[in-house]
Amino acid sequence: MALALSAGLCVSASSAGVLGGSAQGPGGEAAAGSAVAAAESRSAAAPADRPPQPPASESDEPRPAETELGPVFMLTVGGKLYDDLWVVLGTAAPAGRNPAFPKDVEIDARQTWRCVTCHGWDYRGGEGETSRRIPGANFPSLRALDGENPADVAERIRDAHGLFLVGAVPDLAIDLLAGFLTGGQIDEADFFDERGRSLGEPEVGRDIFEGACINCHQLDGRRFLHGEHGDRSSLGWVVRNRPEQALHKIMNGVPGAEMLALRFMDYWQIADLLAYLQVLDPKER
Ligand code: HEC
Ligand code: HEC
Repeated sequence: MALALSAGLCVSASSAGVLGGSAQGPGGEAAAGSAVAAAESRSAAAPADRPPQPPASESDEPRPAETELGPVFMLTVGGKLYDDLWVVLGTAAPAGRNPAFPKDVEIDARQTWRCVTCHGWDYRGGEGETSRRIPGANFPSLRALDGENPADVAERIRDAHGLFLVGAVPDLAIDLLAGFLTGGQIDEADFFDERGRSLGEPEVGRDIFEGACINCHQLDGRRFLHGEHGDRSSLGWVVRNRPEQALHKIMNGVPGAEMLALRFMDYWQIADLLAYLQVLDPKER
């Protein structure tokens, strides 16, 4: 089975096997692999002084890159599904309000079908940032699923939410969500102190921002942001006031948007980048 993603990529069941979940099924073809191969053939020619590459393998066995997407990419897809699975899958969310959502809280009904609305940008449910958005929320924390067996967690997702997931969402999407929850959760405490300030160096992060973000978000970080209900249209504001949300989106990308997923970068690059974003556009408190 293959999942067509909004990015125009197609993730196949054989790729999802990277997660060690139960996604490996017969007939998983390598559509995504061909996208990777096409990207490789488009890449710029090697500079003249580059050392010679080892000869291509004589064997008929395809190289991993041609049949599978890497584990880091799969985690970013899981993270985007967690953010908004309906946008990633390109299907409408169920109609009406999720019955698991408290009736007395005023909210756009569609939001009640996103994992993140209830379990939070920090995955801590009612114990974390969710309680700032939804007073009295008592949704469970998913932090303890980090490091668990993905196949078991896929079952727990089905047990808890079969009502709206089973039949409506491909098994592969549930496996990717389980892969994310067991291997992709980021602990915000690794990046921010208890007052929500990044542990990185703003001066170092500036180079990353100017190299990788400025084209889209502009010098002041105010372009292209719609964000979540109640957000201000300023990257500085989002990273100062919604640090967990910014961290999740920077690591995994944004469903349906041409936003980068920086999960591949090393820890300090992310921390420095966040520190720079926090000093950006300080007028927007
Ligand atoms: C409307 C709020 C809401 C939404 C949306 C929601 N959940 Fe839950 N989730 C809950 C509640 C409440 C429970 C506890 C229910 C129970 O135990 O039967 C739960 C339980 C779980 C559990 C079991 C936790 C454990 O420790 O076994 C997992 C895993 C889970 N959810 C994952 C997800 C994923 C993945 C999504 C998105 C596809 C999602 N949830 C969407 C409210 C929500
Ligand atoms: C190709 C264009 C593009 C590039 C490059 C880009 N972004 Fe984005 N970014 C977007 C779009 C589009 C969105 C989604 C807008 C929305 O829905 O809020 C977004 C959203 C975000 C969000 C979420 C904002 C919110 O309110 O939740 C953050 C944070 C962010 N980008 C940070 C960055 C950083 C940091 C970089 C550089 C490493 C970067 N972006 C590079 C296009 C881009």
